[in-house]
Amino acid sequence: MIIKYLTLSLSILFLVACDDKPGVSADGQAAASNAKALLAQGDIKEGKALFAACQTCHGAKGEGNKALNAPSLVNQSPWYLKRQLLAFKSGARGTHPDDVYGQQMAAIASTIADEAAIESLVSYIDRLPDVTPAATVKGNAKKGEDYYTMVCGSCHGPNAEGNELLDSPALAGVDDWYLQRQFELFRDRARGADDKYGRQMVMMAPALPTESDLKNVVSYIQSLAE
Ligand code: HEC
Ligand code: HEC
Repeated sequence: MIIKYLTLSLSILFLVACDDKPGVSADGQAAASNAKALLAQGDIKEGKALFAACQTCHGAKGEGNKALNAPSLVNQSPWYLKRQLLAFKSGARGTHPDDVYGQQMAAIASTIADEAAIESLVSYIDRLPDVTPAATVKGNAKKGEDYYTMVCGSCHGPNAEGNELLDSPALAGVDDWYLQRQFELFRDRARGADDKYGRQMVMMAPALPTESDLKNVVSYIQSLAE
């Protein structure tokens, strides 16, 4: 595993070096890139051009727009964004009649040409600066911490940073209202019931039986991003 990451890091060093304008320190840029960048190897220029179609809903900086129900994309890991875009495109996500917002995104995803275009988009999004989303869900973060640590952290990571090996996305830095809604979709089987990744969350849903349990956990996750 370490060797796999080393190989990946080396190829990214190489990519960064090729990608750079003369005079810009490739080493410096590579050092600044974090684990998030590991899988982002698409064509960033193409991604920027394609992102024009996303800005209307997700914001010019990918920061999200609650009024349009479109979440922030910038704090999420590239591998997960890629998997979700493929899921929307294949119909694994966003086809359930109760998943009205997912349907909107599925319609957009169907217009993205292919996996290479998705790679480019995700690589561009990965280069956008992180934006800490505003807290909108009112819960008791202290109470939520216990639940999170006991139930969610084993997959999503102790700081909700995500764990690619367990297919579990980052939750910290994702909009709290979006997290709540996604959890409810899993609970109501409107997302993920027929999907091997989503099914894990469908199975987790009974762990937070009441709305206040869910809000407490979401508030705790939000506090990790602040
Ligand atoms: C018409 C508005 C709209 C446009 C345009 C749009 N999106 Fe979305 N997107 C949404 C909504 C709404 C959701 C939330 C879906 C849900 O709640 O299940 C979403 C969700 C997503 C997600 C899932 C995030 C996650 O954490 O699970 C990704 C990735 C995404 N959009 C990427 C894009 C990209 C890339 C583009 C441009 C090609 C784009 N979107 C254009 C409305 C839009
Ligand atoms: C067994 C591992 C596991 C556990 C435990 C787990 N999750 Fe997940 N979670 C996942 C996986 C895998 C996904 C990705 C599903 C997909 O790709 O659609 C996910 C996705 C999510 C999402 C959707 C994020 C997004 O951006 O769309 C939310 C919200 C979430 N989990 C919250 C929780 C909470 C809250 C808990 C604790 C009550 C929890 N999870 C426990 C594995 C887990």
